[in-house]
Amino acid sequence: MKIVVVGASGTVGMAVVAALQGRHEIVKVGRTSGDHRVDITDGESIRRLFAAIGRFDALVSAAGKVHFGDLATMTETEMAVGLRDKLMGQVNLVLIGQEHINDQGSFTLTSGLLSHDPIRYGASASLVNGAIDAFVRGAAIELPRGVRINAVSPGLLTESLGVFGDYFRGHETVPAARVANAYVKSVEGRLTGRVFDVL
Ligand SMILES: NC(=O)c1ccc[n+]([C@@H]2O[C@H](COP(=O)([O-])OP(=O)(O)OC[C@H]3O[C@@H](n4cnc5c(N)ncnc54)[C@H](OP(=O)(O)O)[C@@H]3O)[C@@H](O)[C@H]2O)c1
Repeated sequence: MKIVVVGASGTVGMAVVAALQGRHEIVKVGRTSGDHRVDITDGESIRRLFAAIGRFDALVSAAGKVHFGDLATMTETEMAVGLRDKLMGQVNLVLIGQEHINDQGSFTLTSGLLSHDPIRYGASASLVNGAIDAFVRGAAIELPRGVRINAVSPGLLTESLGVFGDYFRGHETVPAARVANAYVKSVEGRLTGRVFDVL
């Protein structure tokens, strides 16, 4: 399969590439690195990406930013970061990408455990992750030509403990390689409309 991995240079993305490469043609995409560049917050940039890549069989998105901060002082602008970036960035990969994906292809998006296991400073991430999970359930029953869509909802990656550990006190971590297996299941299996929790 020809598999597009958006966010290929990231902590999650690198593990996904490692789990899929060898068996498939991997097209690595990032904002500042990779075989192709895209800014998922910009629809025109996404259109240019798909025009450059051509048709593909699967797209994995492991990109998307959200603002972490105190709800009491969070501004509309800060809350909108995650809506524009992690939520609509990934949704737009599907909306625009559906015209370019092959029959029986698949989209796999990334959400996260904060949709159902909230932490302090994580209200924006909870909102965005819940919306992504709901989107894949809704989109799965409408996508044409046997195209599938799932989300992977990881807990805190062991590899990200140094970056996010202070926010996730008391949480068990999950190795990136185990998280990557859920993406493999989504891409190489036949399930659709599912959220794969990896905790
Ligand atoms: N790490 C965790 O513990 C964890 C847990 C649960 C959920 N998640 C979710 O998993 C996703 C990936 O997390 P991560 O920790 O792997 O992030 P990361 O290490 O910061 O990597 C982010 C990747 O996304 C790309 N990217 C960032 N902004 C982009 C944009 N606007 N357009 C296109 N590509 C963009 C980056 O490309 P460049 O390097 O080229 O800029 C990079 O490849 C996020 O949505 C995160 O919320 C992560």
